[in-house]
Amino acid sequence: MAGSKKSASVVPYAPASGRRAAIVAGLRTPFCRSGTAFRDMTALDLAKAVVSELVARSEIDPREIDQVVFGQVVPSISGPNVARELVLGTNLPKQIEAYSVSRACATSIQSLVSAANAISSSGADVIIAGGTESLSDVPITVSRALAQALVEASKAKTLGDKIKSFRRLKGRDLLPVPPALKEPTTGLTMGESAEKMAKENGISREAQDAFAHRSHGLAAKAWAEGKFSDEVIPVHVPPRFDQTVQEDNIVRKDGQLESYRALKPVFDRRYGTITAGNSSPLTDGAAALLVMSEEKAKALGYDPLGYLKSYAFAGVDPGEQLLQGPAWAAPTALDRAGLGLADMDLVDMHEAFAAQVLSNLQGFSSKKFAEERLGRPEPLGEIPDEKLNVNGGSIALGHPFGATGARMVTQTLRELARRGGHHALLTVCAAGGLGAAVVLER
Ligand SMILES: CC(C)(COP(=O)(O)OP(=O)(O)OC[C@H]1O[C@@H](n2cnc3c(N)ncnc32)[C@H](O)[C@@H]1OP(=O)(O)O)[C@@H](O)C(=O)NCCC(=O)NCCS
Repeated sequence: MAGSKKSASVVPYAPASGRRAAIVAGLRTPFCRSGTAFRDMTALDLAKAVVSELVARSEIDPREIDQVVFGQVVPSISGPNVARELVLGTNLPKQIEAYSVSRACATSIQSLVSAANAISSSGADVIIAGGTESLSDVPITVSRALAQALVEASKAKTLGDKIKSFRRLKGRDLLPVPPALKEPTTGLTMGESAEKMAKENGISREAQDAFAHRSHGLAAKAWAEGKFSDEVIPVHVPPRFDQTVQEDNIVRKDGQLESYRALKPVFDRRYGTITAGNSSPLTDGAAALLVMSEEKAKALGYDPLGYLKSYAFAGVDPGEQLLQGPAWAAPTALDRAGLGLADMDLVDMHEAFAAQVLSNLQGFSSKKFAEERLGRPEPLGEIPDEKLNVNGGSIALGHPFGATGARMVTQTLRELARRGGHHALLTVCAAGGLGAAVVLER
């Protein structure tokens, strides 16, 4: 298989004190296609809803909370430190310190890891970690030329000078500028980069559509079986709070494989294979975790959902295979845990695009990739169907960038409990060529 020519860098986990981070509870809002049920809510509104409910349901005394670590990928200009706004905008004590993180689609994996590191090394005991995103409420800005003219005008002393500041503007400078979902270094969108991976790795349209259909089928089944009812909160939509959103609105409950085949490619209209059906959609939602030191969880009488055992992040060259980071990060996370892929009872791989998941699975099982790229004698191996994304993934559930990692942690740990399993591997690919992998245990 094709891969990047330069080695990726992989940053491993070095637990400092041995104080394990327990994930005591996790919740998320429903995930809704952007521009639909949550279109009038901000990322902060969604975060406030889920964190308030997490505190209420877990019955944690808010005075016990040491820190809030939260993330958002497309930031709100009015409150860029969403974590602190979250503390100030809920009933949490204002003394709780808070900071925000951003690691593209792996943002709330970073929140969890940051919380675990604070528990391990700084003596913090109780942390709320998570992420939020509203792609219905993205900052629309102005062109650089208009911004410069406005600054110049604000400094001008006379009306004439103020008017002169705008003299050089052209018509196109007045157009609003939406946030780019493009890689700054390559100029390619995520979808174009995934299309490149599909071509280089020989991932067929049929395989992508079948994988996407599987994701929707499993997510629909999980909802029907009530598996999500204790991890997804009802959200009362402001300003009148007379509408309540109870469920994700992206999952196709009775989709047919034929309907995927009918969709036209979006990112390479002529030769492409990636469609609206086999991509994750633009989504609004938030997810939060209550993380504690193991000792504190025990002292307060909690029975944790599980523990963070290890993690690793990787960086690959965005110009090569942008979303192949998980295949680089997972071996290190497993090594750090002292476990192999076969020891995992579950694997949850974030589904940015079916082509990206299938490319990473290829990386997991390819001897050539292991030997030539990772410098390992053997590949990680194959993941049995009954262990992979068993309750659906981001294609069906949606992908509010900042919230996805925390959604995966809760969803996987709860499934691990249902199965009586012990270990799970989670992976997330992210913009900038980043990959994240964590091993969870219970
Ligand atoms: C792929 C993408 C461009 C599609 O956007 P979109 O055109 O707004 O998508 P829609 O949901 O409106 O779907 C388009 C059409 O396909 C249809 N469709 C989507 N999935 C379908 C399925 N599984 N079966 C049948 N029809 C489907 C929709 O019903 C819609 O039909 P309509 O036009 O008749 O209403 C957008 O979802 C996207 O950019 N996704 C990637 C986001 C991204 O880059 N994320 C980062 C990853 S890390």
